[in-house]
Amino acid sequence: MQTRVDEIADGIYRLSTFVREIEPPAGFVFNQFLVLGEEPLLFHTGHRGMFSQIREAVSRIVPPADLRWITFGHFEADECGSMNDWLAAAPRAQVAHGETACSVSLNDIADRTPRVLANGEVIDLGRGKRVRYLDTPHTPHGWDAGVIYEESTGTLLCGDLFTQLGDGPSLTRGDIVSPAIAAEDLFNYSSLNPAMGATIRELANLEPRTLALMHGSSFEGDGGAALRALADDYDRRSCSRGFDPRANLAA
Ligand SMILES: [Fe+2]
Ligand SMILES: [Fe+2]
Repeated sequence: MQTRVDEIADGIYRLSTFVREIEPPAGFVFNQFLVLGEEPLLFHTGHRGMFSQIREAVSRIVPPADLRWITFGHFEADECGSMNDWLAAAPRAQVAHGETACSVSLNDIADRTPRVLANGEVIDLGRGKRVRYLDTPHTPHGWDAGVIYEESTGTLLCGDLFTQLGDGPSLTRGDIVSPAIAAEDLFNYSSLNPAMGATIRELANLEPRTLALMHGSSFEGDGGAALRALADDYDRRSCSRGFDPRANLAA
């Protein structure tokens, strides 16, 4: 297993590790993203077992000890398994996450006290990079789920949204919605809920120019349209399970 490093937007690096053994023959990738401000931020730490490999990949961009912020979609091994290894390796680093993640898991699990981010709160990383934290509870899964949006590049770091199989290019302008629908059919990984379509449409309103997927190629193009198409598919799934998203909107 090797970790590839590619710049997918100005100062945003995708660290990608392909695992052939998951759902062969297509396989599956695990991606972390480094946002290179004066205060470098890592979105997803990777599994604990991949720590030395991911640290080596980070070192191709910035000295790992200089990392300042660690954040991720939600509390799971691929998102944050090596969080405490990173806190040990980077003495100034601090985990930052939403109120739910901090109170439910991180205040206890993280070796240093995390910074609690309100929904919509911005961390100014310096060098023009600003990341906004957004709560997305139960979307695609995890009560504590959230994403971040880098304002200067219009990049939405989507976490597990649009999860798909295969080892595509680092950046694509092709279809990421159909492969995401196929992977949902296969894995059933989302916590279907009546608010899911509305939660994803809120993200679409950002009109992101780049979508950084944890499991798949990053996408460059009309990110709002891709998110709306994904939201439509989740509304379809919710309706088929007896939820009515329109009732939720009317409430
Ligand atoms: Fe996940
Ligand atoms: Fe994930």
